[in-house]
Amino acid sequence: MKVDVLLGLQWGDEGKGKIVDVLAPQYDMVARFQGGPNAGHTLVIGGKKMVLHTIPSGVFHDRPVNLIGNGVVINPVTLKAEIDNLLSVGIDVRKRLFISKKASLILPTHKVLDAASEAAKGIAKIGSTLRGIGPTYMDKTGRNGVRVGDALNPDFKNIYNKLKEKHLHLLGLYDFEFDITADEKAFFESIEFLKSLQLVDGEYFINEYLQNGKSVLAEGAQGCMLDIDFGTYPYVTSSNTVTASACNGLGISPSKIKDVIGITKAYCTRVGAGPFTTELEDEVGEKLRKNGNEFGATTGRPRRCGWIDLPALKYTAMITGLTKLVITKIDVLNDFDTIQVCNRYLYEGKETTQLPFDVVNEKIYPIYDAFKGWNSSLEDVSDFDLLPSNAKDYINYIEHYLGVPVSLISNAPDREKMIIKDASILS
Ligand code: GDP
Ligand code: IMO
Ligand code: MG
Repeated sequence: MKVDVLLGLQWGDEGKGKIVDVLAPQYDMVARFQGGPNAGHTLVIGGKKMVLHTIPSGVFHDRPVNLIGNGVVINPVTLKAEIDNLLSVGIDVRKRLFISKKASLILPTHKVLDAASEAAKGIAKIGSTLRGIGPTYMDKTGRNGVRVGDALNPDFKNIYNKLKEKHLHLLGLYDFEFDITADEKAFFESIEFLKSLQLVDGEYFINEYLQNGKSVLAEGAQGCMLDIDFGTYPYVTSSNTVTASACNGLGISPSKIKDVIGITKAYCTRVGAGPFTTELEDEVGEKLRKNGNEFGATTGRPRRCGWIDLPALKYTAMITGLTKLVITKIDVLNDFDTIQVCNRYLYEGKETTQLPFDVVNEKIYPIYDAFKGWNSSLEDVSDFDLLPSNAKDYINYIEHYLGVPVSLISNAPDREKMIIKDASILS
């Protein structure tokens, strides 16, 4: 009976999907607890790439069931497309997928509001994925939201219309043109499909699993630096992305949580606007983007790239109570002569390892220590001890700085490609 929580430690896209897929066979349930189709989790299985947005990344294994928890915001149209896509590769996820009736529904007008709000912000825009995430969470906390369970109510159309009317009123405040006719048609078609799925009281469902001695992997979306409270506010997403969110987003007690598994890239990326202290807007950043194929899994936007930011990682390790670290995309650094590591900042003329309150308007300068590159392919290495010493030095330094043991190092997108440092994570 345990829950392990897996989180992105940076600004998302750390490779959570791949690592969940690798760990999933050890668990009886994989559960998403926050975010929605703003997430894009990529899995590469037998050379074939699959991107999941709302569905947990355990679906490619027989053992775990998959739960979409109450903390998630669901666009039924996207969900149906994802399920159809999985069916096209021979995976009927419907038997192993459960959805909390308390999860929120994204309405077509939520997406329009997201777009109108971003357009009104002009150059100060967040760079939202425009999936309607912010407006849906606003309605949830504003106590106006529509939930999955409402779809079962014979009066659903009226529940929908009430919120839609409110949205149309709000949209009147913007100078923004839109037409939701096609989206509404698709929405109601997919609501019928949603009703055919296994809709459950998620909090009872998961706690019964735990009482029966079963294990759960809670799969985070986004990353800790996008957390609504602790991220680079206001350039964040609209949910909490840290460990505590797994409790709220699934209905489980903190006492049930065992390991907190954090994922970081061997460098750093961000998609969308907002501060990024170690960003490289030069040919080095371009090389990271090219080597790492850094283009968004949801929107296709080029990701901004830079060196690893250890004080920021230390901050997220603190907030999350990190117990195990996974480093991904080490292969992206294979052909760098020198690799820089930011281990402190210059802020107001002094060196510090802490992030100030206002990371948006205050100027924080990264200070780096240089590491020698290893200039070789790590593709066939699966044992940490067999890594070139420069690669070991780099990983050991990160581990030591954060004070959290490194369990796995990912060296390619494929599910099999993994360097094991501490095999206990795989048992
Ligand atoms: P997520 O949102 O955290 O699941 O990450 P994304 O799927 O959005 O982005 C991670 C990208 O890196 C995907 O294209 C993965 O296939 C890819 N990836 C994951 N691990 C590795 C790795 O170790 N090396 C390389 N080169 N690519 C990786
Ligand atoms: P995964 O789960 C990377 C970013 C957006 C934008 C900000 C707000 O794949 O790691 P939103 O649509 O949530 O209102 O956008 O957050 N963002 C992500 N960046 N990976 C994600 O998810 C993201 N989800 C949201 O780019 O800057
Ligand atoms: Mg992603």
